[in-house]
Amino acid sequence: MPSKPVLRMQGRALLALLSLLATLWACHGPQDTPTPPAPTHNGPMALPASFGTPRFGAVQGSVTEAGFALGKALFFDPALSDDSSTSCATCHLPEAAFADPGKAVSNGIFSQPTSRNSPTIQNLAWRAELMWDGRSPGVEHQPMLPIGNPGEMGQSFTTTATKVGRLIRYQPLTRAAYGSDTLTPARLLNALAQYMATLVSAQSPFDAYLRGDSTALSAQQRQGLRVFNAQGCGRCHTPPLFTDNSFRNNGLDHFGDSGRYAHTRQLADIFRFAVPTLRNAAKSAPYMHDGRFATLGEVLSHYRRGILASPSLERPLLPPGGLRFSDADSAALHAFLLGLTDEAFCQNPKFRP
Ligand code: HEC
Ligand code: HEC
Repeated sequence: MPSKPVLRMQGRALLALLSLLATLWACHGPQDTPTPPAPTHNGPMALPASFGTPRFGAVQGSVTEAGFALGKALFFDPALSDDSSTSCATCHLPEAAFADPGKAVSNGIFSQPTSRNSPTIQNLAWRAELMWDGRSPGVEHQPMLPIGNPGEMGQSFTTTATKVGRLIRYQPLTRAAYGSDTLTPARLLNALAQYMATLVSAQSPFDAYLRGDSTALSAQQRQGLRVFNAQGCGRCHTPPLFTDNSFRNNGLDHFGDSGRYAHTRQLADIFRFAVPTLRNAAKSAPYMHDGRFATLGEVLSHYRRGILASPSLERPLLPPGGLRFSDADSAALHAFLLGLTDEAFCQNPKFRP
């Protein structure tokens, strides 16, 4: 019986056409109607000059104060999960740049362990393919994955929107953001995306240094920046976002997680994972897609001594055996990484309920 959906589609297309005509009609109405002010492009969202144009604004439209406020309420609300036990913030804590500090993997509903380490949420408006394997095309899509994941929030995305939309507290928030009380699945997604797009971290000592304050980094940290560049760290962890948005194999040994291959089914992607940002790394331990390294010191030891050869390893960026740099350079690099900590971001009351 394929005719019914087709008819429904046509009905929808007709409605869309009618509303388009109505809009055109309104646009050509009396010329004395004042032109509405252009929407503020980014509302509460900071746009650091060094980051360039965010893809979020272009793809999804602007961030508004009301959309941000609705998204924030949703992000911290356990009602989004099946048993109302788990919110996004259960695994993404503001004080840890929205990672889950101290946990190799996180726990979803019924304390089930997640299959990977919870990444930070910061500066995602400039990034496209999200998740360790890149299977999400951006912040405006991503929330579907944790909500629907039986081990994380465990509830279909549309059920969540209906359930949460019935809660009285969301009606004024939804109305302020979208003009009516109904929290549709699309609005739920968009509001969460607006909140996440606003999580911009660009106030670290390194940023102050970039803006011309040469004392913002210590002499040792400036030496660490030289090591960072000399060792090619920045070819993958490219400033200012400290990721080049690519997927690479950085020479870990792997236990069953094939990384990006699971998403693309391209042999070349076996053991490739998203290059994580290094911003606020001091806050987001443990490290790597499986949280195997407890400290930044362990990460640096990996780069110096632990790089394993495999077909997708990034030679010559990362030679098997490891990069060659001294203990003093390693300490300097460590100090430099601490200079990427943005306390104002991690403590920002605006990002909390
Ligand atoms: C049970 C813990 C848990 C919950 C709850 C959770 N997440 Fe996550 N989140 C993770 C893990 C683990 C990953 C990485 C998964 C992967 O790559 O396969 C992740 C990845 C992400 C990413 C991708 C970041 C990047 O840099 O690629 C975003 C964005 C995100 N989560 C947002 C959310 C939002 C929004 C919610 C609530 C709707 C949420 N998360 C709920 C654990 C969780
Ligand atoms: C070839 C690209 C590449 C180069 C070069 C590189 N990295 Fe990485 N880095 C990655 C990838 C990919 C990961 C994540 C790997 C995973 O989890 O499987 C990562 C993870 C990390 C992490 C953990 C971050 C987190 O949140 O889990 C740190 C810290 C880090 N790298 C620092 C460095 C430093 C310092 C250098 C230079 C000595 C460097 N990286 C060079 C690709 C690279």
